[in-house]
Amino acid sequence: MSLSIIIALWAAAPSYAHPHPHWAPPGPGDVRGPCPMLNSLANHAYLPHDGKNINVAITKKALADALNIDEELGQFLFDNAITTNPAPNATAYSLADLSRHNVLEHDASFSRQDAYFGPPDKFNRTIFAETQSYWHGPVINTTMAAAARQARIRTSNATNPQYSLSDLGSGFSLGEAAAYLIILGERGNYTARRNVVQYLFENEKLPTKLGWQRPQPAVTFDELREVMGRLYNETDPDIRILARRGMHG
Ligand code: HEM
Ligand code: MG
Repeated sequence: MSLSIIIALWAAAPSYAHPHPHWAPPGPGDVRGPCPMLNSLANHAYLPHDGKNINVAITKKALADALNIDEELGQFLFDNAITTNPAPNATAYSLADLSRHNVLEHDASFSRQDAYFGPPDKFNRTIFAETQSYWHGPVINTTMAAAARQARIRTSNATNPQYSLSDLGSGFSLGEAAAYLIILGERGNYTARRNVVQYLFENEKLPTKLGWQRPQPAVTFDELREVMGRLYNETDPDIRILARRGMHG
């Protein structure tokens, strides 16, 4: 095969044909936010490496190329993300916009402190240790993911005088637990390997070196809703109420 044909094939190949190239941590002037996955996608340059000016096309392409998220779910996520940019008629957001408290960012995160205690965007080893303590064994299932989420809700409610979780926040938190099980896990099993999930949180890097691969087939909203429902059903009834209102809200 001639060199020009090889170069033409390489240029035409979708970016996911490469082993998730270009990873680099954020540098000076780059912004990141409270989502370990979007931070990872920016570190890999699926999203702009500076974390800024992310429009609908960039969002959908990054989610599809890196994670095989389908068009409908990509659009839904963008429609929520854009609400975090306070500028009227905004068409793009930055990863830093996502940290605005009680827009999408919420209390009782799995790996971030509540906004009451300080900036809610940075990975926090102590908070994450509580979450991890419910992931017994090498494989996380829905029971463990639900238990970890509800422990974080109980702890936040007990320690944060301004604890609150709106319906949207609670739904996002269920969605975030479902997302790591689906996108980092074994499709159809509702499980994920603990080391793969930990790797993403701790390194903000796609866990290819642990054997993780881009999900197949495409990830849909229906599947996300299915796993969210299972997590909800495995949540204690009193936590379902706490998760919605907060004792102080
Ligand atoms: C957390 C936004 C895509 C996994 C978050 C948070 C926001 C957010 C605002 C912070 C919530 C909080 O804990 O206070 C978004 C947007 C997305 C997106 C706008 C797409 C445009 C994804 C995807 C995954 C993911 C594809 C797949 C695994 C997570 C997880 C958390 C999270 C696991 C929880 C972090 C924690 O609680 O410490 N996301 N996200 N997100 N996101 Fe994303
Ligand atoms: Mg939070």
